[in-house]
Amino acid sequence: MNLEDLHNKTILITGSAKRIAREIVLDLSKYKPRFILHYRNAVKEVEELLNEVKTFCSESYYIKADFSVRQERDDFIKRISQENIDIVINSASVFPKMDTWNNFDYELFQKVFDVNLYTPASIIKHVFPKGKKGIVINFLDASLDFNFTDHFIYRLSKISFEKLTYMLAKELAPDVRVNAISPGAILPPAQLNEYDQIEEKKEKEEIINFYEKSKQKIPLKISGDPKYIIHAVRFLIENDFLTGINIPVDGGEFI
Ligand SMILES: NC(=O)c1ccc[n+]([C@@H]2O[C@H](COP(=O)([O-])OP(=O)(O)OC[C@H]3O[C@@H](n4cnc5c(N)ncnc54)[C@H](OP(=O)(O)O)[C@@H]3O)[C@@H](O)[C@H]2O)c1
Repeated sequence: MNLEDLHNKTILITGSAKRIAREIVLDLSKYKPRFILHYRNAVKEVEELLNEVKTFCSESYYIKADFSVRQERDDFIKRISQENIDIVINSASVFPKMDTWNNFDYELFQKVFDVNLYTPASIIKHVFPKGKKGIVINFLDASLDFNFTDHFIYRLSKISFEKLTYMLAKELAPDVRVNAISPGAILPPAQLNEYDQIEEKKEKEEIINFYEKSKQKIPLKISGDPKYIIHAVRFLIENDFLTGINIPVDGGEFI
């Protein structure tokens, strides 16, 4: 699909109000698609984003849902099932801080898998019934092959999401192209972002050092930036001969 053709198209993007997904929305807005902007808590940010894009992207709107809450998730799926959506970008994700094997339990497992696997799978299922054409871009994580044990359930959920990407690429061909992007260290973890509100010196230092530290451990010795993700999003939208691929955007960190 040419990017210029986006002006006729509807793009659903989850977790769109902030960070990487917000930058994707701002970039693709140049082509004047209609956006359905999903958010969970960031109402102020999503309102601002919609205001920024709505002049060009007419009939765009935002929709709230916490994917870990069954009723909200079901209502969201019902609502988007009634839409004619061409592109789904599954970016929303939960990344719990205390997600270690020590804290492994059913409640946390259920929450993380509901948000990071079940909901994006369900979105794809309902947006693309048999015969409906489209494009899916799923967000994974570049570190998945290394079996790190921090963020235990998060990693399990993203590994499953990677397999789901490949399985759906087969299952939904030739109508839907299903690909993934695996970011490396693009932005510091979201919980470190509210810099002014952070009391703990250690966390402040973590933010300050994030880019410097990640630069040193990355073979390409440059900092992550959403612009590199945007490049991959554009590539996956444009290249009609790609399905079932996962693009690591990590500066070579996880070679
Ligand atoms: N940033 C990185 O460097 C990096 C590295 C590896 C992988 N990734 C992956 O790339 C994608 C984008 O990353 P990001 O850092 O920009 O995003 P993020 O901060 O991890 O999350 C994006 C959004 O997900 C939404 N979300 C969280 N819990 C939710 C829930 N229970 N229900 C519905 N929505 C929920 C939040 O929306 P609200 O703010 O509206 O509550 C949040 O803003 C994610 O899938 C992430 O796992 C990013």
